[in-house]
Amino acid sequence: MKVPFLDLKAHHAPLRGHFKSAIADVIDSGIFAGGPAVVDFEEAFAAFCKCDNAVGLGSGTEAVWLALLACGVGPGDEVITVPSTFMATAEAITYCGAKPVFVDVDERTYTMAPAGLAKALTSRTRAIVPVHLFGQMADMDPILKFGQQHGLAVIEDAAQAHGAEYKNRRAGSIGEIGCFSFYPGKNLGALGEAGAVVTNSLRLADKVRVLRDHGQTRKYHHTVVGWNCRMDAIQAACLAIKLRHLERGNDLRRTHAGRYSSAFKDVEEIIPPFEANYARHVYHVYAVRVQDRNDVIRHLEEKGIGCGVHYPVPVHLQEAYASLGYERGAFPVSEQIANEFVSLPMFPELSEAQIDFVIETVKESVATGVLA
Ligand SMILES: Cc1ncc(COP(=O)(O)O)c(C=O)c1O
Repeated sequence: MKVPFLDLKAHHAPLRGHFKSAIADVIDSGIFAGGPAVVDFEEAFAAFCKCDNAVGLGSGTEAVWLALLACGVGPGDEVITVPSTFMATAEAITYCGAKPVFVDVDERTYTMAPAGLAKALTSRTRAIVPVHLFGQMADMDPILKFGQQHGLAVIEDAAQAHGAEYKNRRAGSIGEIGCFSFYPGKNLGALGEAGAVVTNSLRLADKVRVLRDHGQTRKYHHTVVGWNCRMDAIQAACLAIKLRHLERGNDLRRTHAGRYSSAFKDVEEIIPPFEANYARHVYHVYAVRVQDRNDVIRHLEEKGIGCGVHYPVPVHLQEAYASLGYERGAFPVSEQIANEFVSLPMFPELSEAQIDFVIETVKESVATGVLA
């Protein structure tokens, strides 16, 4: 039996006819960058996030970047985030001319440990970017409280957390502004690149709208220097179709995660994901922790099972950020989990038989002597 890490073809097969007619509608409209298809998707996505406004963009990286700019982050500022994330979170901070300052993550949720914030704070700190890693939200209440006490914007990087919840509130709707990626493999993925921000602040939404469109408030009247970060209309039309299936996809991911986790819970060598009691985890990634990761990966590959590592090098140790001067050992939890994570197949169309085969193979590969 083969088990791919992700099977987008299976996910898209029943939607092909809908995609074709939605793309034909966009072609017939002649409006490809922004326009009605984007506005329709924005309204539907804002409602999904239980938020007042959504602004469609070209990628999740642009979402974090423009969110920071809209919150006033600029050269000389510092922004606190975590090293256990995809590089884009920190890159977006750098694009603003600001400096990423890291705090470690919690050992169980792998999201920002609020206790680290005080040590990271300086007179230059402007914002905090918690990352809802793998589909589980960061513990937002203490982060928001810290932000309020020190006058800092809280910007949620929800690129991996479409539909995740914190105490019944949706990802993206809790901080000043929330940032989403619709990269194809995400829980809600486009048929190419796309992203969005959501916010309850009309003022911030309007700022992002201006920034995404060359700083124009009226055609050829530019009030600020912006960029081209408009959402592609074909992506918006296809995303609107996929959005209708997101809730069901998230429920299936949760069911699959439950099957994996109940099989792993008594295996000493495997640490399955922990779901915080405040959270509705949407399992964008189902990552277990094991000691001998390379053995496990080799064994999975031999058996035809796809897997991944998210992420092998924490951001503070990336070569690109050597100039920040962080040493190995600076963030022990992020460094340890980066050595131990293996992401297992996770997508709504997985069958129980496939999951059981993955479970059996992972268990075999950690059992003493099997790989000797
Ligand atoms: C946590 C996080 N932030 C930001 C991004 C950037 O999104 P995009 O790839 O759409 O630019 C990603 C994408 O993987 C991500 O996982």
